[in-house]
Amino acid sequence: MKGLLKYLPYIILLIFTLSRTVENKTRKAVGEPCDCESQRCICKYFSDCQMQYDRDDINYCNRKQGIVCCKEPKIIFDPPAQLASEFACQKYTEMISNDCAREFITGGELARAKEFPPAALVGRFNMETKKHDWICGGTLISERFVLTASHCAKTGVINRVRLGDLDFSSNKDDEGVQEFSVSRLISHPQYDSSNYNDIMLLELNGTVTFTDYVQPACLLTPSWTVYNTGVFWAVGWGAVDHSTNMSPQLRRVQLRKLENCGPIANEAYNLLHGLSERTQFCTHGKTNDTCKGDSGGPLLITFPSKEEKYKCLYMVAGIISKGQIECSGQDVPSLHTNVTAFVRFIEYHVWPTKNNKS
Ligand SMILES: *[C@@H]1O[C@H](CO)[C@@H](O)[C@H](O)[C@H]1NC(C)=O
Ligand SMILES: *[C@@H]1O[C@H](CO)[C@@H](O)[C@H](O)[C@H]1NC(C)=O
Ligand SMILES: *[C@@H]1O[C@H](CO)[C@@H](O)[C@H](O)[C@H]1NC(C)=O
Repeated sequence: MKGLLKYLPYIILLIFTLSRTVENKTRKAVGEPCDCESQRCICKYFSDCQMQYDRDDINYCNRKQGIVCCKEPKIIFDPPAQLASEFACQKYTEMISNDCAREFITGGELARAKEFPPAALVGRFNMETKKHDWICGGTLISERFVLTASHCAKTGVINRVRLGDLDFSSNKDDEGVQEFSVSRLISHPQYDSSNYNDIMLLELNGTVTFTDYVQPACLLTPSWTVYNTGVFWAVGWGAVDHSTNMSPQLRRVQLRKLENCGPIANEAYNLLHGLSERTQFCTHGKTNDTCKGDSGGPLLITFPSKEEKYKCLYMVAGIISKGQIECSGQDVPSLHTNVTAFVRFIEYHVWPTKNNKS
């Protein structure tokens, strides 16, 4: 105790300084917005705040008055539309059936009809042989545009997109199929051979009709990243073995974002300038992963179920850029283009009138 006494003035000074800093930084009234980790929060009396906090975790707006910085579910689940793509997404909610045709079936790896209506097949149609050659996956994002990966155009011409299919080797399940020619390919201007900016838009020759089988996915915009849980549905027709063929059946797999992936990705994929943390991210599946032919396809997330208006739509968070090389028995992460980083590029081309003015 005696020992402590000689430090007393310092301790008092320290406490004083700390309390001043805390006070100055955070004194706010009920109803004011406040900062908290990656979410929208609002100042409330502790007793009015629905969130459960750990004692150490409490962020005060005004400590003396017991006002805390409260995570506000109502605001979180009603994102105001600001960007052209968000307005489009809002419009889609009125263009599709609002009792959600999709049903999630747990287990199994084959996708069901109507389960992933934004999934697209991307490839070419040979006029002479009258045969399709599917190369990549894609995501329908509007009435006229499909999102895919730039590298899909490296191996040859892309001129066809098929929507609403499950098994492309069979025509027994084709009641929902819509097929289009590609009238324009818009590869990202900074796409390079080392596969950075691996993103491409395909403009279709006609307008897609939204049905239970064919629906667009919304973009995961910066303000909607609050919905990003780091768990995604990857869907595609990628190979399931060592062959280079695509698998005719649409498959789904749940993947988790892999943090600190830089060194592993560099080693696995020999990235020229290393992993670009802003524009790329990695995932890792527990047992199954993406593979050849899944490329260009979507990494989807759902809106939280409380988000009534958007509940039937998906958001596209990533584009599969590099999947497993060997497809089975290998354990490297897959690499994806971060869609959020390219929202401006996409909006510029897909919703031009609203966007070009800025
Ligand atoms: C992984 O793939 C195997 C074989 O293709 C399949 O039997 C299994 O259900 C898949 N597992 C998951 C979690 O999707
Ligand atoms: C678009 O392309 C598809 C497939 O080639 C064709 O069947 C369809 O008639 C075309 N639509 C328009 C509006 O040109
Ligand atoms: C993509 O980048 C944004 C930051 O620009 C980040 O908030 C988001 O979490 C990233 N997406 C994924 C799926 O990690």
